[in-house]
Amino acid sequence: MFQAKLTSTQDAIGAFLATRIGALGRDRIVEGMRYASAGGKRLRGFLVLESAALFGVNRDAAMQAAGAVECIHAYSLVHDDLPCMDDDDLRRGQPTVHRKWDEATAVLVGDALQSFAFELLADSVTGDADQRAELMATLARAAGPRGMVLGQSQDIAAETAATPLTLEQITTLQANKTGALLEWPAHAGAILGRADAAPLRHYARAIGLAFQIADDILDVEGDPTKAGKRLQKDAEAGKATFVSLLGLDAAKARAQSLVDEAEAALQPYGAAAGTLQDLARFVIARDT
Ligand code: IPE
Ligand code: IPE
Ligand code: MG
Ligand code: MG
Ligand code: MG
Repeated sequence: MFQAKLTSTQDAIGAFLATRIGALGRDRIVEGMRYASAGGKRLRGFLVLESAALFGVNRDAAMQAAGAVECIHAYSLVHDDLPCMDDDDLRRGQPTVHRKWDEATAVLVGDALQSFAFELLADSVTGDADQRAELMATLARAAGPRGMVLGQSQDIAAETAATPLTLEQITTLQANKTGALLEWPAHAGAILGRADAAPLRHYARAIGLAFQIADDILDVEGDPTKAGKRLQKDAEAGKATFVSLLGLDAAKARAQSLVDEAEAALQPYGAAAGTLQDLARFVIARDT
């Protein structure tokens, strides 16, 4: 049931992005944008749609925000894979953008996906002027120098740090690197629904951290064919992760307790939040 819903949402987000990006034209950058924004689990977009659905938000409006966060996420992956960052050849089971084309194309495709995300939010379909402004301001913050970009920079600095990071430092780093872009979708749903964002944001912060712990666990134990990307690179790079600091068993226990916390945060929404409950469990049970 949950898997069927996730699959149909993945298809809907994929179709939305293919159409909207396709309408931009046919040059190499647009082709790269389509390529880089295809595939993936669409967890961030799914979270927007499910959070918005709690408040009965129009699906077309919510899809604009779902597409926007997936564009920002795709841009972050294109740049994350560049030779000057993680230097990876495979993403979502396909050659990375700089391997398929070249580095300049990958830089520009990332830039273009980022700008395009804000164009989607600015569209009148997304909401009224206040809602659009708030969505743009909060997404800019989550993606930028106080969010994902900061986390990426802390991640790179950690590779050459003289002493390994503490658990507290890792938690902060991950909250920026991965957490901010996973929390935004829940916030966006509440903005679109003109609802109190606090319980949903609490939920999303907990699953964001659980998600990153699961990513670190997958890096150690996962199957690269299923993951569609190179694994075992954290240990190779000597990176401090939740697994290196806590050990596998304690990392799994921590992820489970975060899922319990996330489920408890959904209490105010009752049975309507059933899919979000399932999503919390999926985040740590996934093998991709
Ligand atoms: C991968 O994110 C990068 C991290 C933030 C750890 P996802 O695992 O959500 O990637 P896709 O979108 O499914 O490919
Ligand atoms: C990537 O983190 C996070 C962002 C792109 C913001 P990782 O470098 O751990 O992700 P993977 O393992 O390459 O997917
Ligand atoms: Mg990285
Ligand atoms: Mg990487
Ligand atoms: Mg990783």
